Amino acid sequence: MKPINVGLLGIGTVGGGTHAVLTRNQEEITRRAGRPIQIVAVADRNVERARELVGADVTVTDDAFSLVKDPNIDIIVELIGGYTTALDLVMMAIENGKHVVTANKALLAVHGNEIFAAAQRKGVMVAFEAAVAGGIPIIKALREGLSANRIQWLAGIINGTTNFILSEMRDKGLSFETVLKEAQRLGYAEADPTFDIEGIDAAHKATLMASIAFGIPVQFDKAHVEGISSLDAIDIKYAEQLGYRIKLLGIAKRQVNGVELRVHPTLIPTKRLIANVEGAMNAVLVQGDAVGATLYYGKGAGAEPTASAVIADLVDVTRLATADPQNRVPHLAFQPDQLSDLPILPLEEVETACYLRLRALDKPGVLADVTRILADLNISIEAMIQNEPAEGEDHADVVLLTHVAREKDINAAIHKIEALQSIHGKVTRIRMEALNG
Ligand code: NDP
Ligand code: HSE
Repeated sequence: MKPINVGLLGIGTVGGGTHAVLTRNQEEITRRAGRPIQIVAVADRNVERARELVGADVTVTDDAFSLVKDPNIDIIVELIGGYTTALDLVMMAIENGKHVVTANKALLAVHGNEIFAAAQRKGVMVAFEAAVAGGIPIIKALREGLSANRIQWLAGIINGTTNFILSEMRDKGLSFETVLKEAQRLGYAEADPTFDIEGIDAAHKATLMASIAFGIPVQFDKAHVEGISSLDAIDIKYAEQLGYRIKLLGIAKRQVNGVELRVHPTLIPTKRLIANVEGAMNAVLVQGDAVGATLYYGKGAGAEPTASAVIADLVDVTRLATADPQNRVPHLAFQPDQLSDLPILPLEEVETACYLRLRALDKPGVLADVTRILADLNISIEAMIQNEPAEGEDHADVVLLTHVAREKDINAAIHKIEALQSIHGKVTRIRMEALNG
């Protein structure tokens, strides 16, 4: 059996895990793939560390471009991250007829359309299971396992760092900074952790899942992105009192006239399984018309969980390397000439229930003013908590949960409520999802 030769770009957290798992499970992986998968060359800026990890039999260089040009290499595994050098390397690998495996969601969310088009032209595969939800085989599930279904929506906890931060802050009362440092130490966080905290990483992943679920081009620039940096601990507490948990969700939902694509902190009922996904774990809930709701859960980050997905792609690519390109699974699940032009809807058109927190003057008539504003915009209230003002204060927190309403109307209501004399400061709005299939 002639081995398939792999060139590994980047032997950091995920690259190191990939090398370790491939070495440890070599015999079983070969039995699955039908031929040995061997890393023949590694490129990393830190040549000494790379050499220590892979030993003397593997070529080690700091010149990643030499690998993508090497005629002896069949598959390039891109694990350096970013979208500058990584883009050049991936495009050059494709031009040179090599298959590519990558965990780089940022690269694919921003440049996926040109990368997949180039791969299509050259008849090579670009596999990216590890790019979404780490070790969970969600790309495989969406692209193949659910291919009978018209997917209606999906919602996922798809950033381990932020889920870890939210869980540790809530359970252990640790500070945001302390937990972030721990996530970085454990190798969960992106090179630039603002990608995690500000929801960008989750939006990269949601963008890729939306494309595969609905057969639309990759459109990261149209996603609505909010992170957890402005989340207030008091809202986590009130949400719990009302039977909800706040999670950073990536959501893609099919509407009649388009697709909602958004990432934001979201209140979800505590009784849902997905609300109980804690720490760096990820979960994706998918609603298909035939199958109903299915839930995928597992480690979304870290060396070996992510390596698990990288190697699954290596096995897939190895099995299909000699297949007619027309008979392979399309990159975005739908045949490239069958992608739909269903637009991504502007946020104003999105419909959700909302949590609203306001600081209201404790005097008769104030709540009536607020509820009148909501009623005039056809926004109905599902629940409310009104606190007593703290000692020495004349304002108190009022929390309202609305029924589903259009974002545009909620925005108008917030604007009017904030203009009331009796309301102090800004209204906090957190969107809600019932996720009840
Ligand atoms: P690391 O920073 O741990 O590893 C990247 C490695 O690539 C480093 O050793 C780095 O060297 C090296 N490198 C960077 N640029 C070059 C270059 N131009 N030439 C040669 N080597 C280079 O990153 P991760 O392993 O965490 O992430 C890799 C990819 O996997 C990213 O796209 C990330 O988003 C994705 N990913 C990561 C997950 C995780 O849990 N960590 C999970 C899922 C996806 P140096 O350190 O010297 O810069
Ligand atoms: N930084 C990412 C996370 C890594 O925290 O989930 C996995 O993609």
